[in-house]
Amino acid sequence: MTDNSPRASSVLDRVLVLEMVRVTEAAAIAASKLVGRGDEKAADAAAVEAMRAALNELPMDGTVVIGEGERDEAPMLYIGERVGLYRPDSGTPGNGPKIDIALDPLEGTTITAKAGPNALAVLAIAEQGHLLNAPDTYMDKIAIGPGYEPGLVSLTRTPSENVTALAKAKGCEIGEIIACVLDRPRHGAIIAELRALGCGIMLIPDGDVAGVIATSDPDTGVDIYLGQGGAPEGVLAAAALRCIGGQMEGRLFFRNDDERARARRWGIEDLDRIYKLEEMASGDCIFAATGVTDGSLLKGVKRRQGGMLETESIVMRASSGTVRRVSGQHYKGVA
Ligand code: FBP
Repeated sequence: MTDNSPRASSVLDRVLVLEMVRVTEAAAIAASKLVGRGDEKAADAAAVEAMRAALNELPMDGTVVIGEGERDEAPMLYIGERVGLYRPDSGTPGNGPKIDIALDPLEGTTITAKAGPNALAVLAIAEQGHLLNAPDTYMDKIAIGPGYEPGLVSLTRTPSENVTALAKAKGCEIGEIIACVLDRPRHGAIIAELRALGCGIMLIPDGDVAGVIATSDPDTGVDIYLGQGGAPEGVLAAAALRCIGGQMEGRLFFRNDDERARARRWGIEDLDRIYKLEEMASGDCIFAATGVTDGSLLKGVKRRQGGMLETESIVMRASSGTVRRVSGQHYKGVA
């Protein structure tokens, strides 16, 4: 059973919550130097390198469970990579808490390359075994903010049924509901169905971690997130919603047999399973993000006169239900 009580002490107590911000700040600052340069790979590589270096300074024995890909396809922050001061090969004497880490050093590589909105450096940590080890496939997602009866929306129902139920629960017209959907041809049917229903649609070019989190922030105007995005991003967004409240379901989507075989190798037996929020991120967890470019959740990195850099970050913890916004001024230009 998940213990969400405020006193749920966990191994995460030994890692300072605010240290997570140092890690996402470092990745965001590194990526920000490549905003608008049209080079997605370089921006991602810079963020990865900086995040890895920052993680390796933390007093923990961390394992990347959601990262840049499997070992043969990612030179750094690959799934299974050990990070932290007390990783087995660090040479540092002593033990640190065993932590599982889901990370996306640059969520929104294309956004960054094009200087678009909502690029983030993102990280979630939990005790070992508490984050869904999602393979790098797609995931069907549905999410709404807090305050609704459990199970109000579900992937087992149509977009129209979900939006109608949400409007009823919110006490508003269907036309007042805004659904956030990634702007992709694969979402043509969902978009057509929602248009026929008469609700508003916020089409986002990329960045569905921010899209899901937007459902929990009334200022964004987003009521529901619908559609298919990356499975790793789904787990990261689930960790955030565990901290700030909200509902979410995810179901892995496989494009071919290769992806199905990969999921089975990872121990996933029921390929059609619908994961509830707590099954994607359970127990205590911490979510941190720093803006790379301006967005609905955070401001991006700003360069001020004299080389000073400003960052805006958010860090949240499930067991305490705390959300902290951290603004950083980096006079030496690095985190
Ligand atoms: P990257 O940072 O890896 O480019 O991911 C951006 C993103 O928009 C995610 O937020 C989303 O989950 C995924 O890509 C959707 O994938 P696709 O671009 O293939 O539709």
